[in-house]
Order: sequence, then structure tokens, then C-alpha cells
Amino acid sequence: MRIDIITIFPEMFEGPFNHSIIQRAKDKKLAEIHLHQLRDYSTDKHNKVDDYAFSGGAGMVMMIEPIVACIESLQKERDYDEIIYTSPDGIMLDQPVANSMSLLENVIILCGHYKGIDERIREHFITKEISIGNYVLSGGELAAAVIVDSLVRLIPGVLGNEVSALSDSFQNNMVAPPVYTKPRNFRGLEVPEILLSGNEKLIEEWKYEQSLKRTKERRHDSI
Ligand code: ADE
Repeated sequence: MRIDIITIFPEMFEGPFNHSIIQRAKDKKLAEIHLHQLRDYSTDKHNKVDDYAFSGGAGMVMMIEPIVACIESLQKERDYDEIIYTSPDGIMLDQPVANSMSLLENVIILCGHYKGIDERIREHFITKEISIGNYVLSGGELAAAVIVDSLVRLIPGVLGNEVSALSDSFQNNMVAPPVYTKPRNFRGLEVPEILLSGNEKLIEEWKYEQSLKRTKERRHDSI
């Protein structure tokens, strides 16, 4: 999968994209992530990418020319399955959305800022708008990083053990069961006996029951 991110803050991605699972996906050549500085596509001598809104009102609006120039220069090189805009009024990112997007080959993610982007970009160039939650971030970069992380870990071969993505919370509409590791006893706090029993069938049943219980208790919205 190739992901092209259009942003005015490419440095914000250095941390999240250079560690852990995403770094591993890049090393294994299963994911390519390219960052594009939007200001490089401005024709203004100060590299301006925003301007006042027609009709006034507080806040600047990101201009159509540099954004379209960047999108079109990418489209000259390859076809894109989706051109995504990160926005609080987009569809909510959840596991089914991440699952389906992890199958795509080429994706552009445009990170918004200020009061948003000129509406004509949304109407004519963006193919999908994604929100990561009902709150407003200062910009789309953190949302883009969350989206990329949720997709890349699902690409077949990225996680060492294929089963681990399938057993994530929400893959079956339920949250994951509790997990334990050594020591078996910490200050009298014991690991549930069943997990030490070696009986795979009973352990699987226990995990399923725990998932169901947790989902009912904590996430009645998702079942
Ligand atoms: N940009 C600002 N807030 C956002 C959100 N909640 N989700 C996606 N993009 C955003």
C-alpha cells in the first residue's frame, strides 16, 4: 500500500511513522508513506496556502490552487483509490472502515487546518472524508497518523502473527478479553486459573465469555 500525505507539518509524522509496526511495514516494503509539503505547491512568493473566507468570519481557509496542484502532480504518476480528507464531519473511523481501506493500493490523505479547506476541493477532488472522533483537533495531522496506523497494521504480513490483528478488539464487534503475563502471582493477585489449565477449548470459551461481558459492560454502543 502506498500512502501520500499532503500537509503543512510533515515533521509531525516523524515520531509516529518511524517506530514500531509502521516502521516494520516500511522495512518489509508492505507500506510506503510519502509526505508532501503543501507549501511547495504554492505559487505565492511567501508560500501562502490559506486566505480569508469570502463573506468574512473568523479563521483562514486553505486555498484550492496549491492543494489541487499537489493532488494532480501525484495523479500524474499513478491512479489513486481514494483521496481522503481528515475532518470532524467525515464518516467515523472504526474497525470495518479500517479493514476495507487496508485493502487499497494507493491513497492520498489531505490534512486540513484553520477553518477548513475551500469547499470546491471537497466537492470535486475528495472521495472520502474521515473523522477520528467527535471532537475538534487543531489540524488533520494527528487524525491522519491514527488512520494510517489503523490501516497499516491490517495489511497482510505486517504483524508477525496474522492472528493478532484478527483477535483485535472490534474485529468481531466485541472488545478483546483481558490478558495476563508473568508472574502468576503478584502480591497475592492471581492469574485466572483457567488460563494455566492448558485446556485450549475451555480457554477459548473463557475468552469469548470475557469479551462478551466486557463489551456489554463497557461498549453497549457497539453491539
Ligand atoms: N481535524 C480536526 N478534527 C478532526 C477529527 N476529529 N477527525 C479528523 N480530522 C480532524
